[in-house]
Amino acid sequence: MNPASSRRRDQYGTSADETLLDQYLRLRQHTQALVARLNHEDMAVHSVPDASPIDTQADARDTAFAADVISGLSARHKQLPPKFFYDATGSRLFEEISRTDDYYVTRSETALLRNIAAELAAGIPQGAALVEFGSGESAKTRLLLDAAPQLSHYVPIDISADALDQASAMLARDYPQLRITPVVADFTGHFQLPSGAEGRPRVGFFSGSTIGNFDGEGAVRFLVSARQALGDQAALLVGVDLVKDEATLSAAYDDSQGVTARFNKNLLIRINRELGGDFDPDAFDHLAFWNPVHSRMEMHLVSRKDQIVNAAGHTFAFRNGERLHTENSHKFTIDSFAQLAARAGWSVADTWISDEPRVAIFRLEPHESNDWSERS
Ligand code: TRP
Repeated sequence: MNPASSRRRDQYGTSADETLLDQYLRLRQHTQALVARLNHEDMAVHSVPDASPIDTQADARDTAFAADVISGLSARHKQLPPKFFYDATGSRLFEEISRTDDYYVTRSETALLRNIAAELAAGIPQGAALVEFGSGESAKTRLLLDAAPQLSHYVPIDISADALDQASAMLARDYPQLRITPVVADFTGHFQLPSGAEGRPRVGFFSGSTIGNFDGEGAVRFLVSARQALGDQAALLVGVDLVKDEATLSAAYDDSQGVTARFNKNLLIRINRELGGDFDPDAFDHLAFWNPVHSRMEMHLVSRKDQIVNAAGHTFAFRNGERLHTENSHKFTIDSFAQLAARAGWSVADTWISDEPRVAIFRLEPHESNDWSERS
């Protein structure tokens, strides 16, 4: 092949000597340019098929970040929603947490998934779409995809465009038959599935104990939205962390390598970068503790001194020792999770529990399934 032909670009501007990820990012840019002029109603479908995430709501999310920082830092008990942890650095740091010895959740859940993958796969209908909430690097998803080749569509939803881009490019390479429709979205609010998932059975996948990061009402709201989005015939696979001894929990959220502390403080660095803040991350300590009343681990950033900080065009005062509450991670029992699911119209069809430190995977089905009408 002569060198000129390898430099020739096709209609997407792709040339033969780019890496797959480069090509992918270029394709994404191209599709983004196509939708840039669409009005908001046309953008209701957030994405186009085949591994090209369209992020039509980036501006809205930027505004939401500023608004949440202003209101959260003005509150009497300062707090920020955990979804803002996951910028590119935050997503990478979280993957790093999941590989520390102290953070057991990912390891226990992955081992469990590996053991029960065939059983889970047996409940997945032919031609189904797998819809994943908070897909991140989609590492655990591969266990499901390998065990259930009957899945024809995969819809990863994540708030981090960078994590989605990379994961989708790698999955597109490794699963050429799978139709991948990534969606950059904040699933803590109202969400809509892209058209790729319509008209086929849908299986939801919500792993990593992320459901524990909602407060009680938020978890119910999410489960109700998921039930609506997934439909009456759906199943939802949820990975949940179980109540356990305090020492194991505390180590998991304050690992000895200090990765979790960096992850927590990265929120301040993100505020500095995106909202013109002047936080000194070293002027705050990472704090993690068990709250038995609410059955949750709490993460805070604690001010090491009296200080004034500017961010998002506002000024905020911190007292020495004052806390900024950044995350809750609720821990469940088998019963307490079943009760939560029931409040959102789901019933527990199956429960699997890992080896220690224990986490659970639940298979949920809608309360009022239409199955009976099909059988009669
Ligand atoms: N969903 C994860 C969990 O609750 C998120 C997480 C792990 C996390 N470690 C963290 C969030 C530390 C904030 C701080 O286990």
